[in-house]
Parts: sequence; structure tokens; C-alpha cells
Amino acid sequence: MNLLFEPAPLEDWLRDYYFEAKADISSSGAEPYGLGEALDLLAVDPREFAGISLRDSRSAGADVLRDLVAERAGITDSGRVLVGNGSTEAQLLVMAATLAAGDEVVVVDPAYHTLVATVRAIGCRVTSWPLRPENRFRPDLAELRRLVTPRVKMIIVNFPHNPCGVTLTHAEQRELVEIADRNGCYLFWDGAFEDLAYDAPPLPAVSTMYERGLSFGTMSKSFGLPGLRVGWGIVPPEVVRRAVQVRDYTTLALSPVVEFIAERALRMPERLLAPRLGMARENRETVREWLAAHDGLVSADLPQAGVLLFPALTGMADTRPFCHRLMREHGVLVVPGECFGVPGHVRVGFGGRPADLRRGLDALSAALRAGEG
Ligand SMILES: Cc1ncc(COP(=O)(O)O)c(C=O)c1O
Repeated sequence: MNLLFEPAPLEDWLRDYYFEAKADISSSGAEPYGLGEALDLLAVDPREFAGISLRDSRSAGADVLRDLVAERAGITDSGRVLVGNGSTEAQLLVMAATLAAGDEVVVVDPAYHTLVATVRAIGCRVTSWPLRPENRFRPDLAELRRLVTPRVKMIIVNFPHNPCGVTLTHAEQRELVEIADRNGCYLFWDGAFEDLAYDAPPLPAVSTMYERGLSFGTMSKSFGLPGLRVGWGIVPPEVVRRAVQVRDYTTLALSPVVEFIAERALRMPERLLAPRLGMARENRETVREWLAAHDGLVSADLPQAGVLLFPALTGMADTRPFCHRLMREHGVLVVPGECFGVPGHVRVGFGGRPADLRRGLDALSAALRAGEG
């Protein structure tokens, strides 16, 4: 079989288990809303749907949505906004619009699969910027500085990071921008989890700091709307134009029904964000206690942002058999680090309902204590 893209081990892992899990403590976003609950919070009368025209939408996204995304990011030119069927699509279109075979790119490693597999599929020459377990995955900007030369066309990062749970400080983000600027390359910034910030304000979109910044956001994570499939890129206007020409061969546009809901959500984002951030904050305290109580069995730093914990499981070289058993015997879903090329770790998501998190962590504790690895 000749696939354009390499298989995505994360998606292969989740494909069935996600739907069968009794307690999902694997997901990278906040608890998804039900449609009725979201419409209530956004004060949408369901009869308003009857007024939507089901004709094709605009190629780069509805004008009003682009305006709202720009306004929220603090930029005036909505011609820089590309709305996508999920940020995944916006990212793919932008990569296809900016990169060619042979281009040099530097990509954070590990990375969410789309960030690296897409540039490999294009034929780019990929250099890894490693987040190392022995450094507790802390990003090393001095190392990045050494890796980026004027030949590099793009730096690709994601902070807060999936799966490692680490992020940058505001000062480190400025340093990252400076490294890109000094070398004149694009800076691709996947900020999928940016609104899930606890002790410091969310990191801004790098497109507001740097003209060759390519920033991406989504409604799938902090907004609790993964099934809506809406994300966006904020990129130079000529990149939007080229990306749209790629979209002419794929999805053409977004659904106007989806755009209607997304518009309402972006008009009053706090209505969706605040309850989910509150839930994540509460869960983070549960995780803090759990980590302290399991010292010796697991080891990880408490994340400063996002809802992902990526602990090493003591004495377990390969966590896949353990994770399979946890799912089959307890119905509890986590993701083995092997899906990200990092053996010996598991990805735990703490964005869901507090009761599910407690239940999932209890099962994880029991399995660890029973030495089920
Ligand atoms: C880092 C990162 N970027 C992007 C996405 C995809 O987001 P979307 O649902 O907007 O396509 C994910 C989903 O897990 C992710 O983890």
C-alpha cells in the first residue's frame, strides 16, 4: 500500500479504544460539550439554524469568523486568518503552501504526528529539536539556536506541548521568535492548548510578534468542541492565498452550520472556556496529589499549562502491554509514550470530568502497585 503519509501510531491506538473506554484519561483537550449544553451557554435558539443558507462557504472561512479570530488574537488584518476544518487542516494547507521537497525544517521532537509526518511527506529534510526525558522534557533554546541556520526554512513547535506537558515562559517564547527572526525563517507555532494556562497568562500567537510567524489555534481543546472541527491559522496573507488553492482540491470550505456555531462561540468565548478551565484547574490539583502519593512509581513535573501529564513509569521499558491491560481489564484509557517515540512513559489527560479522572487514576495506581507492567 502506498500511503502519502506514514501511519499515525497515536490515532491507531485511539481509533477503537477511545470509543470503548469507560474512563478516558488519555485525551489532550478539555471535556467535550454536548451540543445542547453549548448552545445554551452561547444563548443560541435552535430555531436560528433554520435561517442558515446551505450554500458553499468562503474558501478561507466566513468573513465574520476571520474577523473574530483576528480580533481575539489582537491583529487588525483578518486577511491573515485561514479558518480550517480543525487546525489539522489549516496546518496541512499552510505546510503545503510554504514548503517543498528538499527544504530544511527543524521540528520539536517528540511531536504531535501531523507536525512531523506532513513535512516528511512533502520531502523536507527534517532536523529534530529534542525534548529529552533526562531534562524532564524542558525545551533547550540554546540547543535550538545551534540547530537553526539561515538555510532552515521553518521551525515547527507546539507549546504547551503534546505529549510532554511542558511549555515556554513568555521570555522563552520571545527568545524563540528572535532565533527565527535572526535566521529569517518561518516560525510555525501550534498553540492548540494556549488557553489552558494556570499561573501565567496564555502565550500570544507568534504571528502577532513576527511577520513570518505561522500560528495555529483550535476550538477542539480549551473550548471543549473537538467534534465541531474548527481551527485556524494566522499567517501572512500570501500564505492564506496559496493555502486556499490547496484547499480547492480537498474540503473547499467549512460547513456554514459549523461556522454558525463557531461564530457564536467566538463572540462569547468565556462562556465555554471558563467552565473548562475551572475543571482543568481542579483536576490539576488531583494530579498534583496523585504525583506526590506515587513518588517512586511515577515521575513527572506538574504541567504549567495544558492538560497533559507525561510520567515515566518506573522500571517499565515498554508501556504498551501495561496500557493494553489497563484498557481491557479496567476500561481505562491512557496513551503509551511509544506512540510518540518515547518509551517508558504514558500520556495522561486531565481535562475530563473530575470523577472520571479519579476513577482512571485509581485504576492506574492499582495496576502500578500490582506490578502489572
Ligand atoms: C498539538 C496538537 N495540534 C493540533 C491538534 C489537532 O487539533 P484539531 O482538532 O484542531 O485539528 C491536536 C489534537 O490532538 C494536537 O494535539
